[in-house]
Amino acid sequence: MPRKIFVTTALPYANGKFHIGHIMEYIQADIWVRFQRMQGHMVHFVGADDAHGAPIMIAAEKAGKTPQQFVGEIAAGRKQYLDGFHICFDNWHSTDSPENTELAQSIYRKLRAAGLIATRTIEQFYDPVKGMFLPDRYIKGECPVCHAKDQYGDACEVCSSVYTPTELIEPYSTLTGARPELRHCEHFFFKLSDPAVVDFLKGWTQDGKLQSEMAKKASEWFDAGMADWDISREAPYFGIEIPEAPGKYFYVWLDAPVGYLASLKNHFDKGQAAGHWHAPSRTALSFEQFLADPQVEQVHFIGKDIVYFHTLFWPAMLHFSGRKTPAQVNVHGFITVSGEKMSKSRGTGIDPLKYLAIGMNPEWLRYYIAAKLNARVEDVDFNPEDFVARVNADLVGKYINIASRAAGFIAKRFGGQLGAPGADGAALLAALHSGAETLHALYDGRDYARALREIMALADKVNEYVDQNKPWELAKQAAATAAGADVNADAQAPAVQRLHAVCSTCIEAFRLLTLYLKPVLPTLAQQVEAFLGCGELTWADANKQLGPGHTIHAYSHLMQRVDPKLLDQLFEPPAEAAERVQTPQAPEAPQALEAPATQPPGGEALAPVITIDDFSKIDLRIAKIIACERVEGSKKLLRLTLDAGEGKPRNVFSGIASAYTPEQLTGKLTVMVANLAPRKMKFGLSEGMVLAASHADEKACPGIYVLEPWPGATPGLRVR
Ligand code: 2FM
Ligand code: ZN
Repeated sequence: MPRKIFVTTALPYANGKFHIGHIMEYIQADIWVRFQRMQGHMVHFVGADDAHGAPIMIAAEKAGKTPQQFVGEIAAGRKQYLDGFHICFDNWHSTDSPENTELAQSIYRKLRAAGLIATRTIEQFYDPVKGMFLPDRYIKGECPVCHAKDQYGDACEVCSSVYTPTELIEPYSTLTGARPELRHCEHFFFKLSDPAVVDFLKGWTQDGKLQSEMAKKASEWFDAGMADWDISREAPYFGIEIPEAPGKYFYVWLDAPVGYLASLKNHFDKGQAAGHWHAPSRTALSFEQFLADPQVEQVHFIGKDIVYFHTLFWPAMLHFSGRKTPAQVNVHGFITVSGEKMSKSRGTGIDPLKYLAIGMNPEWLRYYIAAKLNARVEDVDFNPEDFVARVNADLVGKYINIASRAAGFIAKRFGGQLGAPGADGAALLAALHSGAETLHALYDGRDYARALREIMALADKVNEYVDQNKPWELAKQAAATAAGADVNADAQAPAVQRLHAVCSTCIEAFRLLTLYLKPVLPTLAQQVEAFLGCGELTWADANKQLGPGHTIHAYSHLMQRVDPKLLDQLFEPPAEAAERVQTPQAPEAPQALEAPATQPPGGEALAPVITIDDFSKIDLRIAKIIACERVEGSKKLLRLTLDAGEGKPRNVFSGIASAYTPEQLTGKLTVMVANLAPRKMKFGLSEGMVLAASHADEKACPGIYVLEPWPGATPGLRVR
């Protein structure tokens, strides 16, 4: 029976870009989803932005934007990361959505009807200048214990004491500097301490849904006693209004997990409206019908910092509002970089977009992260040397090389046709086939590290077989015999046959290894499927073989090794990178560029102000440089052939020959002025212009920098 699974990752706050910690979680969940889909299971995998809360409201205000505008802009930046690292979400939505409002309010009403909402008057700090109640993080003052100044409202960073903001000496609002006033205010509480809730949670957390270390943590929480949970916030607040309570909003953590359901609902509604589910998801059910199905498993992937919310508040909210509770809450540790902890807001030294922009293969990272992840709540360390070693030695050295060692012989000697494997080959393949069951259990149980170790052990076996059989020597023997050299003629047929059997075994083994690696390396697997002509590999194909007579296509190299210099570039601090970019060849350039602050930027005064209408007259488009060559008779010009998604290329001459070789530019994306009148030049017609930056005084400050969009842009997109 195919499983029906609803999978989510934690919803990221909509006030910052993704960092490597987000990408790690998405990769972990994506591998699991892809694996389940390979089994033929139906999986809906959704994400969303966590849009509400005071920090986002305040950040938007500082940026001079409405909160909606602010989170909308963050949301628009998500795709390039998700596509870039091949994360296959079915839908990406927002907690600031009609679906979430409706669902959060409906869950709240059910909890209220169940008698689980209480109101209580509390005392809270109020900023009289800003006109709002202050969350703890916006209050600072003197630590009541060690008297350190400027400590946050909840804990002292100097002596680590924990206290409430009202205990601070000389408190002040970090928003306005005003002294906050204590005011009374009625708050709504979810009664987590209610015996029915405690009983339910004690059972729910201990019945095998959680990792053992998380179940243990939960029982420690019960021992410490359950407190009711404050779920309301006063206006002004960017959030969802509490029904029948004007001016009160749900605390962001109440509506955040409801966003999982909201994104799923949005996905179902869109799918039904558009009528195009991807195949395993095809269904005529509504979102509510789908969730009401007891067989549907709800699976969350989260980090270890938000376990309390997901293993106590969230299942209790769901259960007591009559909804399905999670089947699994899979908790992972943090990612450290060379042993250093990451800051939640700033991330680590690895910028995921920079990783992509400098040309690092996303599947290297997927492989590396998978090789470090298991089902326990352990931190994962990204170590640059280890990264290079694992990708180059294992992924390329052990796996990719199998295909490159065998494919050429099959193509040249046997017209691309596979033969029978022979007895030893068949034994090797049987060993590979029998790995499927263990690997199934390891992927399903999220022990990717062990799965990859097992797969590499299988690859080792294949490489031993290659070394024992030496296809290159078999090929020499066969060639020597065919050329009439002084070799026993009887040997010719066996050498050729043996070569065919050995290489066919290798190709078959490569197919199986690819199948096993496919959840981790989806695009590589796609390339291999095309090369082998084997169709889309599913887990059931582990019991099949391509078989004699099957024709494979020409092999082209599947994956480069990592150049360790790329890691240097990835970790290069931005300031150094900027300096390096600004000083292409001339060592004296930095002084020339470090103009005194009074000099106009870039050596020229700003042009007169224009209106947005003036600007929109210029049609800027993303264009791909599909060819580039030097122009005979010109030292300055390069001839570019640009694809701007128009169906036919454009010819553009550009004065950038001093800065770039044609090889550097070919294949890159850039920005082109697409509606510039064509210009007849000595060397031909120029049908546009590419954009590049340079200093006004090119002699004193040499350097031309062609613009390149961030990953994810495609030819034809308008730049606005
Ligand atoms: O910790 C965080 O980044 C939260 N935005 C996670 C929310 S997960 C879910 F509840 F929405
Ligand atoms: Zn202190």
